[in-house]
Amino acid sequence: MAEHSTISVNRNVLGLKRPVVLVGLMGAGKSTVGRRLARDIGLEFVDSDNEIVEAAGCSIADIFEMYGEDMFRDLEKRVLLRLLGSTPSVIATGGGAFINDDIRAAIRAQAISIWLKADIEVLIERVSRRNTRPLLKTGDKRATLTRLIEERHPIYGEADLVVESDEGAHETVVAKIARRLVEYTKEHS
Ligand code: S3P
Repeated sequence: MAEHSTISVNRNVLGLKRPVVLVGLMGAGKSTVGRRLARDIGLEFVDSDNEIVEAAGCSIADIFEMYGEDMFRDLEKRVLLRLLGSTPSVIATGGGAFINDDIRAAIRAQAISIWLKADIEVLIERVSRRNTRPLLKTGDKRATLTRLIEERHPIYGEADLVVESDEGAHETVVAKIARRLVEYTKEHS
């Protein structure tokens, strides 16, 4: 049993040579979709926020509160540069990662980036399920997300692929990404 599950992880069915990096705003579904995508295409899944939490030994909210956002961004950069340099995996990033010039340049050079694009109503509905995100803890979530959409959407638009994450179940989005990845790898082989 254990042997089967080991074989089914890491079989890299699409033969990808680069990691797949999911970018997009908070609530776009990067972690959920990323985990399922990784399972379906036989790659490891890593969540950069989780890696940061592990490295720091405290929650993201605590890092923001105790050390400030700049320290968080430093850790985020270090973690992502490390992840990009290891074996191909599916990497879910925090919403601000691709906005950083150095991280974005590294992702563009070393990975296939996918912007999971969702509209404001979907984002609000999803981020309202938990109140742990430091950027949304205070103030009006709709106003903050509207501002972040204006600031960040043009930058997320630099990703290699854009996949709408609005409609239907996460499985539909996962299947759509897998199809787009097949096309992308054919075009770039
Ligand atoms: C952030 C998004 C969060 C987390 C941090 C900052 C951002 O990740 O990295 O709170 O700047 O958009 P998610 O996008 O996974 O919520």
